[in-house]
Amino acid sequence: MLFLHEVGSTNDLAKEMADYGASEGTIVIAETQTAGRGRLGRKWFSPRGGIYFSAILRPKVTVKESVGLVFAFGLAVAEVLHEKYGLHVETKWSNDVLVNNRKVCGILSEMKTNGGKVNYAVIGVGVNANVNVKKEFPEELKTVVTSLENELGKKVRLEELLKLLLEKLDSLYEQFLKEGFTRVLKEWKKYADFLGKTVEVTGGTGRFCGLALNVDDDGALVVRLEDRTVKRFFVGDVSLQIK
Ligand code: BTN
Repeated sequence: MLFLHEVGSTNDLAKEMADYGASEGTIVIAETQTAGRGRLGRKWFSPRGGIYFSAILRPKVTVKESVGLVFAFGLAVAEVLHEKYGLHVETKWSNDVLVNNRKVCGILSEMKTNGGKVNYAVIGVGVNANVNVKKEFPEELKTVVTSLENELGKKVRLEELLKLLLEKLDSLYEQFLKEGFTRVLKEWKKYADFLGKTVEVTGGTGRFCGLALNVDDDGALVVRLEDRTVKRFFVGDVSLQIK
């Protein structure tokens, strides 16, 4: 485990370490990131008070099977936040954890592959914990992001939360390796309140609107579009459509 006060991005450092042979289970943690990255080329605002870490994993799975990793990580965060703080937590396809419809955690999975197999995966987790979104976050994020401090009205104990997250990740990762994606997905869906609702999917190949039917065994989001055709999405962002 490598603990840093400040780093550009824990994912970048973890990838470099993995390239140099860092072993399975190595964790890189930082108090703050100066170049935190999100999905789809976005920035991840990383002030002090949040939790930012990346795990280096070397699962013996195919690239196709590896999709389960982000779901296992999302589920771990959702379970910990629910069990520890009693929050009503939602998982949103594919990598987000929400409280009160606002993002409290994001997950960034990056991989090096070799002939259809995973050489290593770096899974980065950012949790908005002891940060005040209204005061500290950029204007454009204030309506879509929340933090544990904002939701609970008090600060949480960061070391304790980090320990719980790492323990839960460890057990769900083991479960994923032993039992495969299906079991993780079943648990993940218990938090997936967007299923059965009208959603808008953006990114990837455009903007689509329809009924979120399922997340299938490939991790794809299955949507019945307004013209009643059914489409599977592998990348993109989901937002709830208010009608
Ligand atoms: C997203 O929702 O877009 C994913 C955000 C992932 C943020 C975490 S913070 C730790 C790790 N290091 C990074 O640069 N990003 C991830």
